[in-house]
Amino acid sequence: MEFNDWAILEKRVIGWIRKAADHLRASLSNPLEISEKSAHNDLVTNMDRSIEQFLVGKIRDTYPEHKIISEEGYGDGSSDTNGILWLLDPIDGTLNFVMQKRFFAISIGVYENGRGRAAFIYDVMGDEFFHCLSGQGAYQNDIKLSPLTEIKIEDALIDMSTTWLKPNRRIDQDIMTEIVRKSSGTRAYGAASLELAYVAAGLLDAYFTMRLSPWDYGAGLILLNEVGGLYSRADGEQINILSRTSILAARPGLHEYMIQHIKEQVAEGKFLTEPQ
Ligand code: IPD
Ligand code: CA
Ligand code: CA
Ligand code: CA
Repeated sequence: MEFNDWAILEKRVIGWIRKAADHLRASLSNPLEISEKSAHNDLVTNMDRSIEQFLVGKIRDTYPEHKIISEEGYGDGSSDTNGILWLLDPIDGTLNFVMQKRFFAISIGVYENGRGRAAFIYDVMGDEFFHCLSGQGAYQNDIKLSPLTEIKIEDALIDMSTTWLKPNRRIDQDIMTEIVRKSSGTRAYGAASLELAYVAAGLLDAYFTMRLSPWDYGAGLILLNEVGGLYSRADGEQINILSRTSILAARPGLHEYMIQHIKEQVAEGKFLTEPQ
């Protein structure tokens, strides 16, 4: 049966996220329990867990037939995109949350049979809510976002982690050098959902990263789609929303330019490897 209560879902989710955010803000004066996951800079806190438990609980109670993929393991996981699938990151930018107590977000993307339907990205400390229902326009708080226009590389502000300019196993350190040199400037904020939302809002012209998980980008891609932003893997291939992937998101024109550049670099023998 087709789901058709998107407007009600939107209202509910915005309420849940605001409540979770109140809880997060209030927690900032309490000591955090921090543990390392895969590396010393891959952290999880008691707050990542408790916010995820809260949101998963709300989704399950309200929509028991929906599936949830979430970072800290309270969701169900899923090997297909059939039905309604929620991609949920309770705190995107945990390192910022721990170290800076700012620039972190709650991110939720809702897909129906693989098609993006609703997106919610809330900058908890900046009190900025990016959201959309597909086909009905994207919003930054109450302001409707304009469709993205083209831009030249020389005028572009590009978000990319400079990690990729150092030796690593995913991307030849020289592939992006010319792009960085030609661009107007680079930024790296450390919260993928907000970085994608900034591209959608025209505050950044491109965002490039070699490894994100579905909960990091699920909402951001829906928002981008709504304003005519383009996105793909770094090699130009389509993104599979169930997988870890590289992502290049940009304004139209700039996206083609950057993909063309990457392809030429690969043709010249530079390496580019998708995450497993
Ligand atoms: C991380 C952030 C970061 C990105 C990492 C993500 P987390 O998410 O979005 O900007 O570079 O790849 O894992 O772990 O803070 O939710
Ligand atoms: Ca994490
Ligand atoms: Ca994340
Ligand atoms: Ca997270």
